[in-house]
Amino acid sequence: MNKRMYEVSNWYMQNYKATGSKWLIDAIIKTNPKKDFKLVSIGANAGYYEKDAYDYFTNHGYSPTIICSDGQIALREERVQTKDGFIYYEIPVISNEIMPDIFKGADIILDFRAGLWYTSGKKKAIDRTLINYMSVLNTEGVVIIDAYHCNHIFLTALGNSLYRAIKRFPELTQYREQSTLEKLQYKGLWYRIEYPTYSTEVEDLFSYISNEGDHKEPNKALSDKMKIAIINKEDLEKLRQIA
Ligand SMILES: C[S@@+](CC[C@H](N)C(=O)[O-])C[C@H]1O[C@@H](n2cnc3c(N)ncnc32)[C@H](O)[C@@H]1O
Repeated sequence: MNKRMYEVSNWYMQNYKATGSKWLIDAIIKTNPKKDFKLVSIGANAGYYEKDAYDYFTNHGYSPTIICSDGQIALREERVQTKDGFIYYEIPVISNEIMPDIFKGADIILDFRAGLWYTSGKKKAIDRTLINYMSVLNTEGVVIIDAYHCNHIFLTALGNSLYRAIKRFPELTQYREQSTLEKLQYKGLWYRIEYPTYSTEVEDLFSYISNEGDHKEPNKALSDKMKIAIINKEDLEKLRQIA
């Protein structure tokens, strides 16, 4: 796996500080979860958003199991602390490889700029990722992805390389990466140049897409721009045909 895929670093924390976790809590509520819902996060990296969601739901009468995983495992000291039903799975899980048994029976898979993001445009890898998700999800299970709009993809990509080179990330006021939904729609950067308008074919498969501003949190510039999208198991199969 590419080393650059995995950086707890400034990138993760800057995004976390600017985005907050309300979007994730809102998204989970939108799925109408049972009291003991099970959420599996793919490519969770340091797991801060997931931990906030865990704390919120345990404080609101739920007893969820939240399992964070990643294709590469973050150093323990960089990750959030685990407790009770909040688990960090210690063995690397790559979305298009084998899913561990502990993921089985998931009500929600959270794929936030991770499995589908990195496999999009690679026919075999994305297909395997989708098959894997379907195999561990409950019949009523859903996948939650990020669906925000990244305005200045080329400029921001350039900015990203620069920030990486100098290993500093200034406070974020806009997203510097495409969202997972955009990756699914555009199938790569060149596709975006050739077909600059959105493919609604992909968007239509998602049963719910929130709006900009829905997850607003004070002093968190990106919380306002964050959007999420939810797709059910049946529609994942349809996504396989077009992704
Ligand atoms: C850009 S970070 C995103 C972290 C976090 N979910 C977020 O959006 O802030 C991508 C993470 O996904 C992991 N990753 C990349 N491709 C993956 C794959 N196919 N399966 C599982 N994890 C993957 C990387 O190791 C990295 O920790």
